[in-house]
Amino acid sequence: MIKIRIPASTANIGSGFDSLGIALDLYNYVEMEPSDSCDISSSDGSNIPTGEDNLIFLSAKKVYEKAGVPFSGIRIIEENNIPFARGLGSSSACIIGGIFGANKILGEPFTKSELLDIAAEIEGHPDNVSPALLGGFTANAMDKCSVKYCRTDIPKNLVFAAFVPPFELKTADARAVMPKEIPIKDAVYNLSRSALITAAFLSEKYENLKTACDDKLHQPYRLPLIPGGEKVISESYKNGALAAYISGAGSTMMAIFEKDKESVKTFADSLLSSEEFFGWKYFILNADNSGAVAL
Ligand code: HSE
Repeated sequence: MIKIRIPASTANIGSGFDSLGIALDLYNYVEMEPSDSCDISSSDGSNIPTGEDNLIFLSAKKVYEKAGVPFSGIRIIEENNIPFARGLGSSSACIIGGIFGANKILGEPFTKSELLDIAAEIEGHPDNVSPALLGGFTANAMDKCSVKYCRTDIPKNLVFAAFVPPFELKTADARAVMPKEIPIKDAVYNLSRSALITAAFLSEKYENLKTACDDKLHQPYRLPLIPGGEKVISESYKNGALAAYISGAGSTMMAIFEKDKESVKTFADSLLSSEEFFGWKYFILNADNSGAVAL
């Protein structure tokens, strides 16, 4: 069996809708070997699809098809630590686990860049799959079926506080509340800020992040779906956050700090002790700069 480790990811980073993402040091694991059937189980007791609709299975099968290799089945053992449907890239981790594992089994017929194109085709947008595969911060644009990207490492002094509500938010539902068209001034608001996020991470000028991660494309429409979300943003800024935003399509709220982990943990404990955050939990994380790796 080969074993793949895949990081969680936080996409959009506010203004970089469907474009920007950062890998985080919270990991899923996928063990995989060729088989004559679809044999899928979980080592952590999580309730997962065990049929041919399993996303790891489908993604692995896609790599076989693209490589022109007959596919008879695959044995998969999953360990899921990334919460499902919470905006932390759990689906993307499954896709990357499937394609990265299948590529290894087949003797690596595809480059990382080709794997990213396959992953974006399955996911529909590149902002989670790209950091999950490559690690670090990635800025991505789709050019027909190809992902063009730039990436950079994120230093360990940046701490990511992921506040996870007790409810799921399906990406399709979070996309359904967004307007179909936006005024040009809102487009300019967002494109200038997403450019600034990329420049801020590439030049380590993090003081720009608060302005840069604000947006008018998706968060104003999605925040009403996340009771408590606005308070996480305002309290995080009051406590010195560099950035605070909805992670991906939600429901997780993310705040980035340049502080020691203990003081961020103290803030998180204090915030979530209030009644309105009953059932929420948090992760205090660093970025992952490795992306998917075979262990
Ligand atoms: N960019 C996506 C969205 C992330 O916000 O809908 C979810 O995969």
